[in-house]
Amino acid sequence: MRIKTRGHPEMESSRLKELVVEDTRSCTFRVHRDAYVSREIFDLERERIFNHSWLYVGHESEVSQPGDFRTRDVAGRPLLLCRDTAGTVRVLINSCTHRGAQVCREASGNARSFQCFYHAWTYNNAGDLIGVPDAAGYAPGFRKEDFALRPPPRTVNYRGLIFASFDPAIEDFADYLAGAREYLDLILDLSETGIEVVGGEHQYSVRANWKMQVENTIDDYHVAPLHSTYLKYLEQVNGIAGPGLIGRAYDLGNGHSVMERPLPGSRPIARWEPRLGEAVKRELDALYGRLVERFGVERASRMARLDRNLVIYPNLMILDIWGTALRICWPTAPDQMDVTVWTFGPRGEAAGWRRYRHDNLVSFLGPGGLGTVDDVEAMESCQRGFRATKEVSWCQFSRGMGRPALVTDEETMRAFWRRWHRQITNGDRRRTRRSSSAARMPSRSRRAGHSIVSG
Ligand code: FES
Ligand SMILES: [Fe+2]
Repeated sequence: MRIKTRGHPEMESSRLKELVVEDTRSCTFRVHRDAYVSREIFDLERERIFNHSWLYVGHESEVSQPGDFRTRDVAGRPLLLCRDTAGTVRVLINSCTHRGAQVCREASGNARSFQCFYHAWTYNNAGDLIGVPDAAGYAPGFRKEDFALRPPPRTVNYRGLIFASFDPAIEDFADYLAGAREYLDLILDLSETGIEVVGGEHQYSVRANWKMQVENTIDDYHVAPLHSTYLKYLEQVNGIAGPGLIGRAYDLGNGHSVMERPLPGSRPIARWEPRLGEAVKRELDALYGRLVERFGVERASRMARLDRNLVIYPNLMILDIWGTALRICWPTAPDQMDVTVWTFGPRGEAAGWRRYRHDNLVSFLGPGGLGTVDDVEAMESCQRGFRATKEVSWCQFSRGMGRPALVTDEETMRAFWRRWHRQITNGDRRRTRRSSSAARMPSRSRRAGHSIVSG
């Protein structure tokens, strides 16, 4: 099967429908490998998925002071994440309203204004056009107010996490989150003072299709064989036995999913070790006590003793594991992606705990860590295997069908692929629809009291 999207519309549609095949009677789920290699599908993803999703831009702590800014590429658009002089966090499209140049060409910094280098139109850090050289050359009806930097059609600040969408009619962010909201809150509630992104960012390119990074994040089946070196390291350095890989996985609706399990050594709050020192023990004991006060024993215990990998569809991964990280991947070609990873933690946490969190993150997910290099090699190896797609045409995601999903099953990936398939076949660009397995997910009380600010 070769996907040709410019052929007869009905033929195109029927071929796209064949990309993902789920049969609940035989408990089989497979994805055609064209989904990882086809240029036409790559183009369709831009139009049907990335133009109709909520997309992560950054965290408000990355622009903590008035005038702070960061430039970001989101779904191919140049964006400016900034905090204006009055303190409002803004997302602006970094394209001069005169003739298109990027008005800010630095990765980050602090500025009261941005002057376009092409013809020197100048904007303040709220995006207003404040200077036009030789303005008398324009007709009397020219008004600077009409040429401010534009925001994306929709933006939202969810408890410090900033998202944008290029679909003006996209569902509200809370509806879009579906069951992922509870898990996102669970992660964010660990801090009493909000979270902050710590340090810089880790960027790398992978010669593999972007969807493999999402799959890899919600796949514990690979951990024991692929990360054996890291698991041995944990055992030797910390005296921690390798993970038993027990835990549950959930389809959270709308393509989102989560794995939740007790990873050894990942939760100093519940499992203090002598090497952390007495001061850290006192801090952690006190923090756990406050969690119980705020959320009750059951929820506090989940927060403290379990960790989780959460995917917010399509491409935001939140790793609440040995360290806490936000990871995002952007397709740059059918067989290539750019990945960025940020560390985050509770604002103002004690130095000992932050060092523990950071060391764990760097040793597993960091540039010299033992986990990422394994994962990148595996993903690139799969992509090389896809050169034989004509002969070996399908990837299998059937593991664990017909039973409550474990972390070593593939239900999380099926959740992603179901939503992807609906969108790529243009089936649900705007509809919120919980999957049947999401409906079976154990109901837990919804967290209340966190506002979502839409712009
Ligand atoms: S393109 Fe920016 S001033 Fe002309
Ligand atoms: Fe991995």
